[in-house]
Amino acid sequence: MEYSHCRLLLVCSVLALCLCNQGARGDELTSDFYDYKCPGVYTVVQQHVFSAMRDELRMGASLLRLHFHDCFVNGCDGSILLDGDEGEKFARPNQNSVRGYEVIDAIKADLESMCPGVVSCADVVALAAGYGVLFSGGPYYDVLLGRRDGLVANQSGAEKGLPSPFEPISSIVQKFSDVGLDTTDVVVLSGAHTIGRARCGLFSNRLTSTTSSADPTLDSTMAANLQSLCAGGDGNQTTALDISSADAFDKHYYQNLLTKKGLLSSDQGLFSGDEDVVASTTKALVQKYSDDGEQFFSDFGASMVKMGSIRPLTGSEGEIRCNCRVAN
Ligand code: HEM
Ligand SMILES: *[C@@H]1O[C@H](CO)[C@@H](O)[C@H](O)[C@H]1NC(C)=O
Ligand SMILES: *[C@@H]1O[C@H](CO)[C@@H](O)[C@H](O)[C@H]1NC(C)=O
Repeated sequence: MEYSHCRLLLVCSVLALCLCNQGARGDELTSDFYDYKCPGVYTVVQQHVFSAMRDELRMGASLLRLHFHDCFVNGCDGSILLDGDEGEKFARPNQNSVRGYEVIDAIKADLESMCPGVVSCADVVALAAGYGVLFSGGPYYDVLLGRRDGLVANQSGAEKGLPSPFEPISSIVQKFSDVGLDTTDVVVLSGAHTIGRARCGLFSNRLTSTTSSADPTLDSTMAANLQSLCAGGDGNQTTALDISSADAFDKHYYQNLLTKKGLLSSDQGLFSGDEDVVASTTKALVQKYSDDGEQFFSDFGASMVKMGSIRPLTGSEGEIRCNCRVAN
């Protein structure tokens, strides 16, 4: 593979050393991090996300999920982007599932010619996710910046840390808690499923088969339609996570749950779970957001900032990668 966009590796590393080592360990992320170092960063990311979504609206959702899957494994450090057999991208929750890597490459290539060695891949992912939300009709929130890139991927960390749609809500809540997010964040951030698609293999457990009977918490008409979509066993067939407005970022995700029209078990479980403390908390929140879209939007922005701040590398930790797919 050719990495012609990546200037000379040496130039990049030297610049990175000169420009980026002023910070100290444990620095906070800020919204003005690139205001002097690379003020054009917003325009570049925005234009790429806009044109990617003009080609395929779903890409906004894919970029949002990319950020989530980056942050949950070793913090938001761009580690999901690293190629190689031990890559996180080949872990079960990511392989043939996470999308958007080419969009990140294209953004990074432009940024390297504009301000070489300055903008981290982890920040590119965070910004791209923000524009993906915004251009889907979702809230604007101030994306905090100043992350640096990790040197290694953690495949087993991805297998362990990323939530599965098949596990109970209590165990999803535990995984969020492991990275400093609470039960409210689980419900708010699950609202990301107001956009994007999921493959049959991720919800066919809820349909009638030789080994399972239909899920009573799934609307029967919707179940019949999914059954025919997934007939033939192509686990890669996709359908909208939000049946009522597939590509629009809105509160319909929560309204669907009130009528048993959540797609994944882990979606519907937020409303239809067994009556324990967790279930009654998540149920009340679903009810609130199904009613109050403004509250959902402002809480979503706040939870995204929180998720985007999971264990960032700052100061002199990590590096600014030249090419998002390989450590320098
Ligand atoms: C709460 C636990 C969660 C579980 C169990 C879960 C699970 C899933 C699954 C199984 C898919 C479909 C994957 C496929 O078809 O290959 C998916 C898609 C998606 N997820 Fe989640 N997810 C969770 C939370 C989140 C969070 C926190 C975000 C972002 C803040 C998010 C954003 C998305 C988006 C946008 C898509 C659609 C991606 C696309 O169309 O390319 N999810 N999720
Ligand atoms: C990978 O993630 C696990 C958590 O699942 C953690 O214990 C381990 O230290 C991580 N390894 C590396 C190399 O970061
Ligand atoms: C889904 O697509 C992937 C990649 O193209 C392929 O490896 C896999 O076999 C497909 N799965 C099914 C069930 O068709």
